[in-house]
Amino acid sequence: MAHVPVLLNEVMDFLAPKPNQNFIDATVGDGGHAKAILEKTSPNGKLIAIDRDIDSIIRAKSNLKEFGNRVYFINDSFGNILRIVEENGFGSANGIIFDFGMSTNQLENSGRGFSFQKDEILDMRFDPKNPLTAEVLVNDYSEAQLIALFNKFGEEPKAKIIARAIVASRRNQKIKTTKDLVEIIERVVKRHGKLNPATLVFQAIRIEVNQELAEIGKALAGVPEILSSGGRAAFISFHSLEDRLIKNWSRDLNKKNIVKILNKKPITASIEEIKINPKSRSAKLRIIEKA
Ligand SMILES: C[S@@+](CC[C@H](N)C(=O)[O-])C[C@H]1O[C@@H](n2cnc3c(N)ncnc32)[C@H](O)[C@@H]1O
Repeated sequence: MAHVPVLLNEVMDFLAPKPNQNFIDATVGDGGHAKAILEKTSPNGKLIAIDRDIDSIIRAKSNLKEFGNRVYFINDSFGNILRIVEENGFGSANGIIFDFGMSTNQLENSGRGFSFQKDEILDMRFDPKNPLTAEVLVNDYSEAQLIALFNKFGEEPKAKIIARAIVASRRNQKIKTTKDLVEIIERVVKRHGKLNPATLVFQAIRIEVNQELAEIGKALAGVPEILSSGGRAAFISFHSLEDRLIKNWSRDLNKKNIVKILNKKPITASIEEIKINPKSRSAKLRIIEKA
């Protein structure tokens, strides 16, 4: 299934790209947001398209080929955004979009264990060059480390019970697949409502493997320098830890008159969008403008 860009109309309304302006898509994925931006910035607007996952870059290149050399594809983490902009002689940007998390393709077709609904190897790396895999983490972290991780990045109320079950299970046999891990969790935690008991643990492991919050922190430090005066940055988050980071960062910079906050409350998907694209349900959009 193709990835459907989330909150596309809202992002476009706020970023309001104009002919010949330059933009950065820090998480290009399948290129849905990038395509809409490039259409508005024609004929000469440039776009830096960053993604940590080489498979996303390959898909985006194919999906955006009509825009030719107006797009610079960069296979790197957005944590290096400042260096990327400098190395490409890009000058300042009129707008930046960050659409965090994973694409539909990564979840459904990557075979890297992002989904607890599939039986795949425990990998969860966006960038296969990253040395830490989910398998290493689950088999090598101490019980105390696992508890801390599930608490911090999963906000999982059953962190202790799950960590203990993982440590007991791996004494007999290495935990190798997503199914192994889901079964261990399901043995000790009952499902409440719609949420699969493995949801928060999978989230925590993915965040740790990819150092997701640390990378966002690094990128945020560069954003004010990259934006031109009046330029805007849009951030789409899928869980509260990401959203909190953006909220606190923008509040701090707002106090120092470095940025203006354009929406006090995060923008969420309409009922119509959620019906067509259920993944948009948890999306929260925040937009800032460089003063
Ligand atoms: C939700 S998808 C983006 C979808 C895209 N907006 C579209 O319309 O197709 C998120 C993308 O961000 C990438 N990503 C995650 N962390 C990253 C990081 N630190 N640096 C660069 N890309 C990252 C993922 O590999 C994934 O392709």
